[in-house]
Amino acid sequence: MLSVLKTILFVLVGLLMLPFFADDLSGKSFGLLTGVAMAESCSTAECHAAIGNARFAHVPVAAGDCMDCHAEAGKPHPGQGSMVLVEEEPGLCLQCHESPSAGMEYPHSAVEESCTGCHDPHQSEYPKLVLQQGGELCLNCHEVVMDGEYAHGPVRANNCKMCHGVHGGQHESMLTLPGKEICFACHGGIREIIENAKSQHDPVANGLCWDCHAPHTADFEPFLEGPYPEGFYTSFDEKKYELCFNCHSETAFTYWLTSEATRFRNHNSNLHSFHVNRMDKGRVCKACHGVHGTDQGKLLYSRVPNFGQWEIPLQWVVSQNGDGATCYVGCHKPKRYDREQWIRNK
Ligand code: HEC
Ligand code: HEC
Ligand code: HEC
Ligand code: HEC
Ligand code: HEC
Ligand code: HEC
Ligand code: HEC
Ligand code: HEC
Ligand code: HEC
Repeated sequence: MLSVLKTILFVLVGLLMLPFFADDLSGKSFGLLTGVAMAESCSTAECHAAIGNARFAHVPVAAGDCMDCHAEAGKPHPGQGSMVLVEEEPGLCLQCHESPSAGMEYPHSAVEESCTGCHDPHQSEYPKLVLQQGGELCLNCHEVVMDGEYAHGPVRANNCKMCHGVHGGQHESMLTLPGKEICFACHGGIREIIENAKSQHDPVANGLCWDCHAPHTADFEPFLEGPYPEGFYTSFDEKKYELCFNCHSETAFTYWLTSEATRFRNHNSNLHSFHVNRMDKGRVCKACHGVHGTDQGKLLYSRVPNFGQWEIPLQWVVSQNGDGATCYVGCHKPKRYDREQWIRNK
């Protein structure tokens, strides 16, 4: 009923306007109006009826203010090139909206280019006129973040907004919190380890978690940027420790005799190689070191986790002369080493 009335109204208005337009109606050319009459002239059953009918309609579209964004190009409408936008994006949208990235230290380049990369100008099935919801929207342009084999919890949950602003952010990489804080928001336990640690690991304390962990997806568990053994023992291969050897020299684990490659040696006999570099059951770094920080010197654990249910006690006592140390551990008798003078252990 209403649509019949609308059609009648449309025809009446059209007839009334006829004298103002020289164009021939039978040649399918319309004069376009503004305001409510406009909405009716554009969104009739034959023309653009679908615009404004989705679950969420943009206010100027619902109000029928099509000409806030569209203008006639001076050619008969409908027809190729008969309509233009009143302005290019993002200026078109900034007629009525403040730039959503205004004042942000790290604006999203996508926003500076165009709004319709993410928003439908007319309507959407989703709130805020977005083209898609959640991570789907972002992955249209950033598929590469999903390249790794294992995906991090919040990324699997398709929620980029847990870490990034959508239009930009105050922190590097558009993050909602600066640096490590973004990780501590969900991994408070690691913050505690770092704050209570007696020995600190430089890249953890002064660097960024993503020096070692991929925030989105990775090929190595737990979301590591490079290979690192998962178990407690492994046959030695330099390639298995690429994560650590990006920054530390592998010679500490490949030289058997050395007076400088490592401080963990008994005179020149390399105790790092002795423990780690084995065909069978070589110990991995975490058999002794806690990579985020520990309560003893040299990132040594005082209780080594991950060995089944047992936390192996490890006490590392530096010798009085400062040239070596004694290790009191759960897995062998106390043993001492000295870098100046070879010590014979029973
Ligand atoms: C807020 C600005 C804005 C308003 C208001 C607006 N449009 Fe649009 N419209 C656009 C933009 C921007 C495009 C170009 C979209 C693209 O290139 O993908 C467009 C494209 C179109 C198109 C061609 C592509 C399509 O989606 O079919 C039609 C037809 C159209 N608009 C009709 C209308 C009608 C009818 C109204 C009023 C009911 C209206 N528009 C109101 C911004 C607007
Ligand atoms: C003629 C003025 C006008 C223009 C031009 C305009 N908008 Fe809007 N827009 C509005 C009004 C009015 C609202 C509703 C105000 C509000 O809810 O705060 C709105 C709301 C929105 C919303 C929020 C919708 C919601 O559900 O909360 C988005 C997103 C949006 N506009 C995007 C755009 C984009 C993208 C463009 C350019 C293609 C644009 N606007 C151009 C007037 C305009
Ligand atoms: C990279 C995608 C993207 C681009 C580009 C983009 N937006 Fe948005 N915008 C979003 C998302 C996603 C939301 C919903 C945010 C939410 O739900 O928290 C949103 C929300 C909005 C809102 C609603 C208010 C708010 O902040 O929640 C407005 C208004 C808006 N955008 C305007 C614009 C304008 C104007 C432009 C262009 C200058 C633009 N957007 C460009 C993704 C984008
Ligand atoms: C229409 C394409 C497009 C969409 C959709 C899009 N982006 Fe972007 N994004 C870009 C472009 C272009 C850049 C700048 C070039 C680059 O770094 O790849 C960028 C850069 C970024 C950056 C890096 C910023 C920096 O300072 O290094 C982040 C983070 C980002 N986008 C997150 C998102 C998120 C989150 C979403 C979903 C809400 C999203 N993007 C959706 C195009 C897009
Ligand atoms: C757990 C927090 C977190 C989540 C969730 C997250 N990111 Fe990021 N993202 C980061 C961090 C941290 C960086 C900075 C990494 C760097 O500088 O190496 C970053 C950087 C980026 C960059 C720019 C550099 C690059 O790696 O290409 C883009 C683009 C990006 N993120 C997109 C996304 C998209 C898309 C999603 C959702 C699918 C997402 N992010 C979810 C934390 C996150
Ligand atoms: C919004 C919450 C959230 C934020 C922010 C977050 N994470 Fe996570 N993270 C999770 C959840 C949930 C899991 C567990 C599910 C899984 O395995 O992905 C997880 C797992 C991890 C794991 C593997 C844990 C294990 O035991 O295997 C690492 C490593 C990790 N996150 C590092 C980071 C880093 C680095 C950052 C900062 C860039 C960060 N996370 C930010 C929620 C978060
Ligand atoms: C120097 C490299 C490096 C840096 C930097 C680093 N991690 Fe790790 N992280 C690792 C390694 C290696 C593991 C695997 C377990 C192990 O060896 O202890 C790990 C494991 C994890 C785990 C899962 C297991 C656990 O211990 O709970 C989480 C969560 C985690 N890291 C979060 C973080 C956060 C948050 C930061 C930043 C404050 C960070 N990491 C910085 C190397 C690093
Ligand atoms: C991003 C670079 C980087 C990565 C990756 C890295 N480290 Fe370090 N590490 C350092 C720096 C810098 C220091 C401090 C200077 C030094 O002793 O060489 C350090 C120191 C150490 C120390 C001695 C701490 C002390 O108190 O003197 C140990 C043990 C250590 N790292 C173990 C590891 C292990 C195990 C890995 C692999 C899981 C690893 N590191 C990965 C940069 C890195
Ligand atoms: C059996 C225990 C043990 C294992 C396994 C072990 N370390 Fe160590 N590491 C030590 C001890 C003890 C020290 C302290 C030596 C000193 O200063 O007296 C040390 C010191 C270090 C240092 C400081 C520089 C140096 O060499 O003196 C780095 C870096 C280091 N370890 C990295 C690693 C990496 C990487 C792995 C795995 C590939 C690893 N460690 C495996 C016990 C171990």
